[in-house]
Formats: sequence, C-alpha cells, structure tokens
Amino acid sequence: MEKKKVLITGASRGLGLAISKKLSAEYTLILHASKPESFTHVEPGSHILCADLSDGEQLTTFCKQLKKEHGDSLYAVINNAGLTHDKPLLFQPEREIDAMLNVNLKAPILISKTAMKIFGLNKTGVIINISSVVGESGHAFQSVYAATKAGLVALSRSLAQEAGVLSEEGHSIRVFSVSPGFIETDMTDAIPQVEKEKILSMIPAKRFGKVDDVADAIAFLLSDKAAYINGTNIHINGGLI
Ligand SMILES: NC(=O)c1ccc[n+]([C@@H]2O[C@H](COP(=O)([O-])OP(=O)(O)OC[C@H]3O[C@@H](n4cnc5c(N)ncnc54)[C@H](OP(=O)(O)O)[C@@H]3O)[C@@H](O)[C@H]2O)c1
Repeated sequence: MEKKKVLITGASRGLGLAISKKLSAEYTLILHASKPESFTHVEPGSHILCADLSDGEQLTTFCKQLKKEHGDSLYAVINNAGLTHDKPLLFQPEREIDAMLNVNLKAPILISKTAMKIFGLNKTGVIINISSVVGESGHAFQSVYAATKAGLVALSRSLAQEAGVLSEEGHSIRVFSVSPGFIETDMTDAIPQVEKEKILSMIPAKRFGKVDDVADAIAFLLSDKAAYINGTNIHINGGLI
C-alpha cells in the first residue's frame, strides 16, 4: 500500500529534522526548508519543497506546488518552521517583526488553508502547528515571537472547530498545536548561559528537552491511536511554566 504523505516545514535542522527521522519509516515525507542548500541530511525517498516563508510570493508558489504535486495523498502538515529575533520591542526593527509574523504565523495560516482544501476532498487529514511555551507564559524580549506562537494556538483551536462544522459525517480532520518548552537546538543555542541556567531551575524534570522528546510525541499524535485528540494545545516541556 502507498504510504501517506506528510509535509514537515523547517525540516533542515533541529526539531523538524528529528521529526523527519522519526516519521520516515511510516510516511512519505515532503521536506521543506528556506532553500535546498540548508539540508545536510535528507531521509531517503523524501520530496523536497523549498521556500523562504518570509517572502509572500515564494509562500504562494509553495502552496500551489504543494496542492498540485502532493494533493492526492497528503495526510498531514506539520507547520514547524519558525524563527525568533530576541530583543526589547522598543529596539525591534519592523523588518524583524514582519519576518516573525510571516514565517511563524502567516505561512502556517496559508499552508493550513491549502491543506484544508486537500483534506476536504480526501476526507481525512491532520494539521499540527508547532507553537511554544512562551505563547502562554510570555517571555521578556520575545513579545512578537510569543504573539505569533499564541496565534498558532488560537488558529488550531478555531480551525478544528471549523473542520467540524464544514465536514460531513465520516470526515476525520484534526487540527491542534504542540508547545515545546526549552528544547536543545540551534534556536536555543543562542540564549545566554545565565538565562539558560535560570530556565533550567524552573524545569521540574531538571533537564532541557531533547528533539526526540518532541519527535516521539508527534509520531504518536499523527497515528490512529491519537484519533480523538483534536483542537487542543499539547505541552512538551518537562513541567516548565
Ligand atoms: N527549540 C526550542 O526550544 C523551541 C521551543 C518552542 C518552540 N519551538 C519552535 O519549534 C520550531 C522549530 O524550532 P527549532 O528549535 O528546531 O529551530 P531551528 O533549529 O532554528 O530550525 C528552524 C527551521 O525553520 C526554518 N526556517 C527559518 N526561517 C525560515 C524562513 N524564512 N523560511 C523558511 N524556513 C525557515 C529553517 O530553515 P533553514 O535551515 O533553511 O533556515 C529551519 O529548518 C519553531 O517553530 C520554533 O519556534 C522551538
């Protein structure tokens, strides 16, 4: 039987790369990054679809290509690509604000729109939006980043309800968000040591998260065993908040 297709955005590094390694045996993967050169590892048999998601034109082309090339058997979308520019809002240039809004929020919205068209025809599908603990807790110097991540939680809850309203009986479309805490990747590598120690002291698990802590959860959430998980936000943070 043909494997179902799963799109993972931001699959060149960090969480997206770990998720791709975890899912590759069971699914055919569509791997996204800002550009092909970003990949140092690609799971065999995967498709590559690149776009700089801060660029409106590239985002539109990406969505069209996704529908045209993979619409037949797209089963799930993991909106994982993201970026942060940590600094006081007072000193944040508008281009950084736009980049965070576009990559972290507008792109998942438009990719979800494309996916909903496909899932409506296929009568099944899953959208997982990768949010963040700071979408709920907030964090100094991450006001815009946190706002985009809170937006993803609201988007997921609303879209899950919308899918329920629009779907006929027999459709199974699930939408939810996943909020990692502090996971060791390039993104968190940039955080100053003193800040890392402060965060560590607030984690009951007494360690930072590993990429596989998130990837294992995603594999479960995509599976039929998670068929009744919908419209919610799932925290993976060792107890941090
Ligand atoms: N690490 C954590 O502790 C943590 C905690 C909570 C939430 N998250 C969220 O989890 C997701 C993954 O984080 P990570 O730590 O794995 O990040 P990462 O290691 O910095 O990787 C970011 C990924 O996003 C892609 N990306 C960034 N800017 C892009 C753009 N303009 N256009 C297209 N793709 C772009 C990158 O592609 P290129 O390689 O081409 O740049 C890369 O694949 C993000 O949404 C992040 O906000 C992470």
